[in-house]
Amino acid sequence: MTPNKFLNYGRQFIDDDDIQCVVETLRSNFLTQGPKVREFEEALCDYTEAKYCVCVANGTAALHLSVAALEIEKGMEGITSPITFMASSNSLVYNGLIPRFVDIDPKTYLIDIKKTENTLTDKTRVIIPVHFTGQPVDMEKLSDIAKNRNVHIIEDAAHAIGSKYLDGTRVGNCQHSSMTIFSFHPVKTITTGEGGAITTNDETLYQKLLELRSHGITKATNKLTTNPGPWYHEMHMLGFNYRLTDIQAALGKSQLKKLDEFIKRRREIVAKYNEPFRKIEWLATPYEQDNVYSAFHLYVVQINFELIKKSRKQVMEILFEKGIGTQVHYIPVYRQPYYQDNYSLNINEYPKSEHYYNQCLSLPLYPDLKDEDVDYIIQSIKELF
Ligand SMILES: Cc1ncc(COP(=O)(O)O)c(C=O)c1O
Repeated sequence: MTPNKFLNYGRQFIDDDDIQCVVETLRSNFLTQGPKVREFEEALCDYTEAKYCVCVANGTAALHLSVAALEIEKGMEGITSPITFMASSNSLVYNGLIPRFVDIDPKTYLIDIKKTENTLTDKTRVIIPVHFTGQPVDMEKLSDIAKNRNVHIIEDAAHAIGSKYLDGTRVGNCQHSSMTIFSFHPVKTITTGEGGAITTNDETLYQKLLELRSHGITKATNKLTTNPGPWYHEMHMLGFNYRLTDIQAALGKSQLKKLDEFIKRRREIVAKYNEPFRKIEWLATPYEQDNVYSAFHLYVVQINFELIKKSRKQVMEILFEKGIGTQVHYIPVYRQPYYQDNYSLNINEYPKSEHYYNQCLSLPLYPDLKDEDVDYIIQSIKELF
């Protein structure tokens, strides 16, 4: 039976408490960045156990500023995964760096660490591993190859707030990286409408991020010996207006309280999908490494479209007609015309990403999905062949 609502591949969960928090902020003195942003940052520090947190306008801004804060000479190189949203590599381009892509591990769909090591050159200054779908990259292994090489690591954890690394600690603690970024877009695990955050344990980077978020302006009077008065401020760097509003931060703080419950429900749904899907020979379920705890932002299956004699387009249309939304995460970034036109990228260098791309399909996954919706989706998938 078709459900009476469309089941998108992802969606936010907003309850009365969230709405109440936003309404209270609308009635307060602060709308743009104010006390709620600070409170949300503190809550994110408590949650991730990172020392510092800077909230920004979105995940893309978080990536842009993280790379900017490293003050890397233009023309140097940065490495990331091609199976990501293009914001990961765009952040390198914004900062005048040359993006290099490394093929994925075919099991985890995460950047291949051995191949990353082989891609390092004397120009590599930063690696941006992406904790794709919520599954964390082995950060200890990755940081081992970056150590002693003057290479920073910025974790793109847009999908992974609430995930745990192999050692059981929470993503974003920056134990093995300079910075970690999060996104709070509505399809992500918690939302602020649009929003993002950067965590770090490095005080110097933290101070730079604060300035970069707000035009490069600081109250510190480095250039003068005495402060002329309360109006006085200085601009030391070329920054941006990437501030989050208090309205958004109030929502974020309220959402963060529910994050562990959201993840629990996401994982229940994943387990419910996995059981029948494991018996289907033309479909592969997502692989979760031993000892990691994925927040499961996405549920991506691999479908052998040749075997079922239907193209991905046909499958998506059939499911759409049944009220089921699916998506492709992602078109490998090296295939994007901008990247093809500006960098000499050879598709044949990424066979695992190509294979993944040809077969991937994201099925609905969000906390509000009911058990009967999941059963309906499972049945609809089984009926494809
Ligand atoms: C892996 C990844 N990185 C970065 C971003 C950018 O986040 P935002 O949409 O908040 O700018 C996204 C968002 O889709 C993402 O999926």
